[in-house]
Amino acid sequence: MTVSSEPTPTTGATSMRSHLCGALRATDVGSRVTVCGWVAKRREHGEHLAFIDLRDHTGIIQCVVPGTVDVRSEYVVAVEGLVRFRPDGTGNADLPTGEVEIGDCSVTILNAAEPPPFAVDDRVEVDEVIRLKHRFVDLRRPKMQANLRLRAAVNSSMRAAMDRQGFVEVETPLLWAPTPEGAREFAVPSRLHHGSCYVLPQSPQLAKQLLMVAGVDRYYQVARCLRDEDLRADRQFEFSQLDVEASFVSQEDILAFVSEAVVDAAEAATGDRPGPIPRMTWAEAMDRYGTDKPDIRFAMELIDLTAVFAGTGFRAFDAPCVKAIVLEGGATATRSRLDALTDRAKALGAKGLAWFRVAEGEGGVTGVDSPVAKFLSDEEQAGLVTATGAHAGDLILVVADEYRLTCHVLGALRLDLGGRPVSEGPFRYLWVVDFPMFDGVDDQGNPIAAHHPFTMPHEEDLDRLESDPASVRSQAYDLVLNGWELGSGSVRVHRADIQSRIFSVLGITDEEAASRFGFLLGAFRFGAPPHAGFAVGLDRLVAIFAGEDNIREVIAFPKTQSGWDPMTDAPKPLSPAALRDLGLQLLPKLS
Ligand code: AMO
Ligand code: AMP
Repeated sequence: MTVSSEPTPTTGATSMRSHLCGALRATDVGSRVTVCGWVAKRREHGEHLAFIDLRDHTGIIQCVVPGTVDVRSEYVVAVEGLVRFRPDGTGNADLPTGEVEIGDCSVTILNAAEPPPFAVDDRVEVDEVIRLKHRFVDLRRPKMQANLRLRAAVNSSMRAAMDRQGFVEVETPLLWAPTPEGAREFAVPSRLHHGSCYVLPQSPQLAKQLLMVAGVDRYYQVARCLRDEDLRADRQFEFSQLDVEASFVSQEDILAFVSEAVVDAAEAATGDRPGPIPRMTWAEAMDRYGTDKPDIRFAMELIDLTAVFAGTGFRAFDAPCVKAIVLEGGATATRSRLDALTDRAKALGAKGLAWFRVAEGEGGVTGVDSPVAKFLSDEEQAGLVTATGAHAGDLILVVADEYRLTCHVLGALRLDLGGRPVSEGPFRYLWVVDFPMFDGVDDQGNPIAAHHPFTMPHEEDLDRLESDPASVRSQAYDLVLNGWELGSGSVRVHRADIQSRIFSVLGITDEEAASRFGFLLGAFRFGAPPHAGFAVGLDRLVAIFAGEDNIREVIAFPKTQSGWDPMTDAPKPLSPAALRDLGLQLLPKLS
């Protein structure tokens, strides 16, 4: 991953400075310059010479001051002097400016600074809360500066790709009404409408569909989305999407539009243009990788053994689905390691985990060594080795259960055993298509929409919508990168008859539909074109490009895992007067 730290093409000259610190090179030798920035380091050389390493967002330049100078770390100064070669043998090959220095400097202190809470240095490990409390200092670090600029470059290349493809950027409201996308929403109490709240949008989903009814034809937005969900490495309350919607299009059109923007962004960020993005159906992704967001940087695929153990006498394997993964060379795993894997499988929901060490012998595999081998016939043992293609010295892990659970457990074990940090190259993009329409059932036994209720079922599956909803595929698709879901979208329902059939399968009554999203359904009666869309999670994309495994590192002012901002101390209680203004009264905290 190469993050360019080259200065911007402009010189950066202003009325206060002639050059940027990191821009000075041998070609500038002989020029009188003024640079401004923060004191990264100051060294005295006796009474007659002082050295200042001066930093701005482009890098560091060494400044040599005759006499002494009363500056300390992170003072803001302007330095004027003559660019010259550093004396022989004193160059610094680690710095792009390392061949030169500014000599004979006069220093103007623009502002004093207290000692920083931590060194502004990429190599120093600093506690997360301290970093976030002083984010304005943390962001001065070269890596963080590079991350912010990389994010801007990704945003602008995506905007350019969308503009070029005829999309128009439209801003949609942040004060909005609830939308049915599954996440818990943040509410904003209204002062003027006593007792009522706005809701911050989980995404501009319904607004962009309304823009299609409005004839916008091709919409995009670098959109702020807000979701009150548990925070993780790939989730913040606030995040940004490249949000896209287009009319008179099919899934193919959307995949092409989004691929172009993502491939352009990848090229802008890394210098490498990815080739065409491969595709896989959801069913194939589950079968082979046990997940709808496969990390295809490595194999260790799930192998189906249901046929091998059909009619088995071993009770544990007498299940609707039996699958395995093979850990190459894993037969040396100790008993305690295998017990830990079994515990992990159980924590993931499996009833158990059967392991088989493939035994070495003259001429290759001689059999399997496992506490459960005695329950299996010779044919089953041989079938296990043949079907998995395991070699002597390998370890086979088998799970038997319902299909979804078996896939889930082995998919997670596969990542535990073979997975790598998400941001580690190579970057392997994948479109996952043909998602199921519904995923599981709610407390009332109604199917739950896998994407959202405005997603169009596959035409061929429409007649099974009521009779066999679990088998209905949708025209929904995800973009996956190195095992992270980068984005999702779907072809939308634009016909009232299909929409009301879907609501009825979901157990949403006409009254409920009317009260929750009546404004959308109402608008659809005024001429809704066929439309489809997508949203790319920008924080995730930029994090991976930046070599970061947590999206916090590419967000200027993120929250901690508990949703706290140590810098502003948000969220904070409202004053009694503010509560009164909003017509709110606090109840005791529920335990
Ligand atoms: P979805 O809910 O799948 O789809 O979101 C799209 C993408 O947004 C990113 N994302 C997040 N990133 C950081 N923090 C979060 N809490 C977070 N939640 C989601 C992910 C995800 O893939 N309206 C639909 C899109 C559509 O159908 O057009 C939507 O929002 O990268
Ligand atoms: P049990 O019959 O439950 O005593 O399990 C015997 C062995 O089979 C143990 O090693 C279990 O971990 C393993 N086992 C049990 N259930 C399953 C299952 N559903 N899939 C794979 N292995 C299992």
